[in-house]
Amino acid sequence: MKILKIAIVFTSIMLFSCSKKQEVIITSPDNNVEVQFSLNEVGAASYEVSYKNGKVIKPSTLGFDLKDQPSLKEKFEIINTVSSSFNETWQMPWGEQIDVKNNYNELKIELQETTELKRKLTIIFKVYDDGIGFRYEFPAQENLSEVFITDENTQFNLTGDHKVWWIPGDWDIYEHLYSTTKFSEIDALSKANHPNLGQTYIPENAVNTPVTMKTESGLHLSFHEAALVDYADMTLKVDTLNFTMTSGLVGSANNDYKVVRTVPFVTPWRTIQIAEKAGDLIDSKLIVNLNEPNKLGDVSSWVKPTKYTGIWWEMHLAKSSWDMASGKHGATTENAKAFIDFSAKNNIGAVLVEGWNTGWEHWIGFEDREGVFDFVTPYPDYDLKEVVRYGKEKGVEIIMHHETSAATQTYEKQQDTAYALMQSLGIHAVKTGYVGKILPKGEYHHGQYMVNQYNNAIIKAAKYQVAINAHEPIKDTGLRRTYPNTISREGVRGQEFNAWATDGGNPAEHLPIVAFTRMLAGPIDYTPGIFDIKFDTWNKENQVNTTIAQQLALYVVIYSPIQMAADLIENYEGNPAFQFIKDVGVDWQQTNVLNGEVGEFVTIARKEKNTENWFIGGITNEIARELEINFSFLSPNTTYEAIIYEDGKDADWDKNPTAINIKTEEVSNKTISKLKLAPGGGFAISLKPIKK
Ligand code: NOJ
Ligand code: CA
Repeated sequence: MKILKIAIVFTSIMLFSCSKKQEVIITSPDNNVEVQFSLNEVGAASYEVSYKNGKVIKPSTLGFDLKDQPSLKEKFEIINTVSSSFNETWQMPWGEQIDVKNNYNELKIELQETTELKRKLTIIFKVYDDGIGFRYEFPAQENLSEVFITDENTQFNLTGDHKVWWIPGDWDIYEHLYSTTKFSEIDALSKANHPNLGQTYIPENAVNTPVTMKTESGLHLSFHEAALVDYADMTLKVDTLNFTMTSGLVGSANNDYKVVRTVPFVTPWRTIQIAEKAGDLIDSKLIVNLNEPNKLGDVSSWVKPTKYTGIWWEMHLAKSSWDMASGKHGATTENAKAFIDFSAKNNIGAVLVEGWNTGWEHWIGFEDREGVFDFVTPYPDYDLKEVVRYGKEKGVEIIMHHETSAATQTYEKQQDTAYALMQSLGIHAVKTGYVGKILPKGEYHHGQYMVNQYNNAIIKAAKYQVAINAHEPIKDTGLRRTYPNTISREGVRGQEFNAWATDGGNPAEHLPIVAFTRMLAGPIDYTPGIFDIKFDTWNKENQVNTTIAQQLALYVVIYSPIQMAADLIENYEGNPAFQFIKDVGVDWQQTNVLNGEVGEFVTIARKEKNTENWFIGGITNEIARELEINFSFLSPNTTYEAIIYEDGKDADWDKNPTAINIKTEEVSNKTISKLKLAPGGGFAISLKPIKK
């Protein structure tokens, strides 16, 4: 059959037509990534992706199952295509870098059913040098005004049995350890009922995103979504025999559909990041680029990157408690002032205080949690106003805490009052939490109901100049670009698991996987900096499974504009390694991933905003290794003082985790150094130009 080229819209987009099959091709600005779109023999939308002429995604179909309506997936014809290209550089108000290049070719394909209903569906592709995003648009039309989506059937048909780093497609929580298996060996159901998870629901063999893979030929792929707004989280169902993934939307036990929307609307972007080197996945800004520009304007006076300490780790070690009735209440005025004093002395801008408000006697483990937590009433031994005043005097901000215990209606009702109280006190950040099963019953943390809860909280908080760091959150899909008061979130198995896990905490490979999976979504409130690695006084069963040098490295490797110095004050006092936490930046003008392999090791260098200082962090899994660091990224003709914090001679995450060697050297952009990392180890380097 002869294919007749009927239109070349511009060099990288071509529309082909033959007697039956219509095919449209679009490539990335550098021509390396190519998407072919066509209608298959039954008129279903189908796309395939290649990279440098090698297939990445085999023909994969797109479409929807709807309640009370025939499926929207076949008997389509292409009625129009619109193409364009876009190239801009935008600036992050805070982030891993200042300038972000946003350069793509776009293709809109307008489809219409050939059957009587003549319903319309538009598919939009954006093709970048580092991957693709595509979304569905339900345009305004006669025969479709409201849709109840029972299933979105977006396929990702893989080319082989790739190596995959995955967590299960839990509808309630992302706090799982990653598994590393072949695609054919993914078994998410085996991860059900984790004893340390207050809520977990894994209904099918699916994975959560970002899910990262490596192909036989060494290409790295990561699948995720961008701009998750008024829709359900997309898990990816896996067909282990045919190497196919299909979108599996998170549902609700209260509805026989997963998403309800009024037409017209657009879905989130479905994304595939493509990289030759693992580190290029971290460099990619595809997810934020697919989000809309900043809607809040200049937030610099109230969204401030900062380091923080807090009344927090002591509760997880059971040294103190959130609730006052326990007799060992952590959030007292006196304790908060001690943290303020310590922070003021050590270049740390904020203090988080958990357990300050009434309600903690009745949260985890209780069914009836609505109406319990109160977000304006402090316990009697905590003088909120005095603590804030004292902080101001010392130049330290207080970070508010709202544990909702997943009682969403109570929180929603109190938000205005709670955020207004914060604004009146000059508090600009809150850590929220959603521990436990969602109330109303039947909803899941990742369903459309909760996506709206999380997003509405961000929008409402912005009105009161409040930034949010959510725990037990919905996953990050790059909305920080649109709402830069979205400062950080959990959505990962964080440091806290090391304090209380009964299954050994987070193994050394955890963070070298997280850097190439969860971190591709956005900032992580991991809460690094535990110096008392074994915490024998408090919990003899468990420990942090890294060396102390790796704890320092995390301030650079794991990106967040708010970074906690999480340990108890007494564990920092007098420890020379603490100098790194004092010095390290939190807001960056530039980020360079120097090396890395998923699950094995990674080294990242970041240049602080408004200074000439650089900070480098490198981490390894349980395997000791030597890494060569080439400092060629430093400014020419400049000598830097490098303070190097490396694993001590016999350091080992288990046998000798606190052995650290601190040395000062002069380096320049001609320097190449070799650094030894212990099992579970790492290194951190601060670099300041020497003024001559
Ligand atoms: C779980 C959060 O991850 C943790 O950081 C917090 O301390 C507790 N919930 C209490 O809100
Ligand atoms: Ca948590």
